[in-house]
Amino acid sequence: MKQHVKHYSIAVIALFAIVIAGAAVFVYSGVYNIGADDHHTRPVFALMQTLRERSIHVRSEDIQVPNLDDPQLILKGAGQYAAMCTDCHLKPGMSDSEIRPGLYPQPPNLSQVRVDPKDAFWIIKHGIKMSAMPAWGSSHDDPTIWSMVAFLQKLPDMTPEQYKAMVAKAPPDEDMDMGKEDGGHTHSHGGEEAQGHHQGEGGSMEAPEQEDAHSHADAHASTAPAKSMDGYTPRAAPDAEAAAQAFHGALEHGDRTIVLGLLAADATISEGGSTQSREAYAAHHLDEDLAFLKQAKVVPLWMGSMPMGDTAMVASDSRILTIENGKPVAIRSKEQLTLKKIGSAWKITAVQWHSAQVETPQ
Ligand code: HEC
Repeated sequence: MKQHVKHYSIAVIALFAIVIAGAAVFVYSGVYNIGADDHHTRPVFALMQTLRERSIHVRSEDIQVPNLDDPQLILKGAGQYAAMCTDCHLKPGMSDSEIRPGLYPQPPNLSQVRVDPKDAFWIIKHGIKMSAMPAWGSSHDDPTIWSMVAFLQKLPDMTPEQYKAMVAKAPPDEDMDMGKEDGGHTHSHGGEEAQGHHQGEGGSMEAPEQEDAHSHADAHASTAPAKSMDGYTPRAAPDAEAAAQAFHGALEHGDRTIVLGLLAADATISEGGSTQSREAYAAHHLDEDLAFLKQAKVVPLWMGSMPMGDTAMVASDSRILTIENGKPVAIRSKEQLTLKKIGSAWKITAVQWHSAQVETPQ
């Protein structure tokens, strides 16, 4: 028995020695062509592909994805992408660049393929070894990387015109120190600032560069100035925003007919994790919402929008003050509307509401 084990060990060690010697000869001889214009053989390519996929998947699995439909986040990502990524990953209407044909592995055309958000976040942050894909995480914070991921989800559906229009509106590519953990909260700070305006603090310190007529004139009206972290004011889809405001007004005034009139026939309403059709909402929750809003006070904090051809997204934040069990309660409500131009009118095709109780007001 012992004898057998000994024989095995010798065989295994000998085999190892041969493999290592072979590898050394292979490496040292220079037989391997490291040129980027000499491509891997199929089995090697398949092996590396699997290695790459598994490596990324295992590392990105537990990443928490923020709300990637946030128009401001997408807009920011458009600016980042245009500034840093098109030479390698192209853009709508661009068939190739000077650098791309010579790269191996060749960067995928991200205006045509959509990458899973978690994978995309990990890849953009960490880069990919032995490829031209840089690790942008060394110069960009997580929220900025999420903005690129959010934009990449929309990119494959965009026409060259839509791409150009969005990049033109995007905030410039400066890596801002936003001091936040994830991209999901882009609104909240802007919201607090907007609220500052409401309280008549003038906002002189933090007023946006391009003085928005709304910030003062509307201080007591129902619309807070749309404003993001960097003072950039997107007023991208004014008609869609007007429809959103009409929707809010009708909800607050209990005007059922107008609320339903603004909802497209196939509209969906999502609230607290469940989604329902317009009919189901009209039959049940709408009346509850109207009754609730009737006794509450809604303070709009922020609104931003983004056009995408005949559709648009309008996001907004508001604070709802109400009384529960005799105590004042403040709720922070985030809303995202998807709208579609039907004929000459903007109709809401999807409503998403998220709300959470915040501090009890003084
Ligand atoms: C110098 C060229 C280069 C630049 C610039 C570059 N990339 Fe890449 N990128 C690559 C290459 C090459 C790959 C493919 C690597 C691989 O598959 O091994 C890649 C892969 C990716 C992937 C994964 C694609 C997939 O199908 O899995 C994403 C996402 C990505 N890049 C995003 C970006 C973003 C966002 C930027 C700009 C901030 C950017 N890249 C800038 C070269 C580049």
